[in-house]
Amino acid sequence: MPIEEAKLPETLITAIPRINIGIFCDNEATLQAMQQVAADRRMSRAHITVHTGGIIGAFQAHSGALSPNLLIVESHSPRDTILTELSQLAQVCDPATKVIVIGHVNDVILYRELMRQGVSEYFVAPINLLQMIQVISNLYNDPKAKPIGRVIAFVGAKGGVGSSTIAHNVGWLISRRYDTETVITDLDLAFGTAGLNFNQEGGMGIADALSSPERVDATLLDRLLTKCNDKLSLLASGGMVDRDFHIDSNAVGAVLDVVRHNVPLVIVDVPNIWAAWTKYTLVHADDVVITATPELAALRNAKNMFDVLKAARPNDSVPKVILNQVGIPKRPEIPAAEFAKALGVEPFAVIPYDPQVFGTACSNGEMIVEVAAKSRTAEIMNDLSQMLSGHESPKAPAKASIFAGKFSMLRKK
Ligand SMILES: Nc1ncnc2c1ncn2[C@@H]1O[C@H](COP(=O)(O)OP(=O)(O)O)[C@@H](O)[C@H]1O
Ligand SMILES: [Mg+2]
Repeated sequence: MPIEEAKLPETLITAIPRINIGIFCDNEATLQAMQQVAADRRMSRAHITVHTGGIIGAFQAHSGALSPNLLIVESHSPRDTILTELSQLAQVCDPATKVIVIGHVNDVILYRELMRQGVSEYFVAPINLLQMIQVISNLYNDPKAKPIGRVIAFVGAKGGVGSSTIAHNVGWLISRRYDTETVITDLDLAFGTAGLNFNQEGGMGIADALSSPERVDATLLDRLLTKCNDKLSLLASGGMVDRDFHIDSNAVGAVLDVVRHNVPLVIVDVPNIWAAWTKYTLVHADDVVITATPELAALRNAKNMFDVLKAARPNDSVPKVILNQVGIPKRPEIPAAEFAKALGVEPFAVIPYDPQVFGTACSNGEMIVEVAAKSRTAEIMNDLSQMLSGHESPKAPAKASIFAGKFSMLRKK
């Protein structure tokens, strides 16, 4: 049965962003209904899997694996069993995972209890398809809701230190290892290398977006992105030197805001210039990564940027500093310990000078892990992507971490 469009004016339903949704039904009718929900055009950006198994199925699937942005779970059980099963599920869920419950009892006490405990919505089966889509849409399109996307901004302490290469590798790795849809935004319109590094030339997405930021919305974003694979896209420009371009903070802010409302991970490759808009981008990112090489100019610049950003973001984690290209033969360099002393923090990672691996990756338009999976450099890139992903580790058993969301209250039971 096609979804009955007439029941709700379609304009009320804003399309669902590029999130992962896991659906665990416990009977055939709901399974079929949810498959229809998954096939709806407004869900087409999301990555949806529909399973059987109910709440326990979801628990089993996510013990030791990452939970999606949204879990929709069904149960035929009475109130107390649902609450017990959900409290088990809460133990293995990511703090940011939202939960919708489909039940078979019209029980107002259960409904209130679920709402109190942070479940996003309770449906009584059989579900109304458009209502379900509407509820999911509202969860993610509420202007007051926290954007789904985390922004990690990468900047070099000098040109050529490897900031872009690290940003691209980290974005690619997180998108794959954590199955997270990721957009790499390359703000270097003239000399950006994102297109080259991913063998994707031609897109002018970021230039178009920044020239009319007020037009950028989820639909235009679809057209501006250059898709590298199912989970990774670029918002970049292919080396634009024929147009003079003025970038201002408001335009960058507006564009990144649309991206972070639509995509769970946003990697921003910030060029090595100090301007109002680059500073704005760094100050407003969730995480900042400064890459430096072990030399005096890079140390001075890294320290200056570190101090300014730390002061401008008193309630955020301090910028992370990566020391790259360490150990160039015959070149005197500042030891990592001295870098750490000057900055007051240990380097987040130390990456050796590895011209063979970086050179091959660079000329092939491939990532480090693709050209030298077993190298020390690949291992460091994997570690970096794990630390920056915000996840414990890709396949490690889920720890009973503190839930940030309201769903956490279920854990206390
Ligand atoms: N650890 C390293 N060892 C060898 N070459 C590297 C290393 N890190 C980066 N490179 C190379 O340095 C060059 C500049 O890197 P890039 O990421 O464009 O720097 P940035 O964005 O800081 O200007 C690239 O050719 C890259 O492959
Ligand atoms: Mg660069």
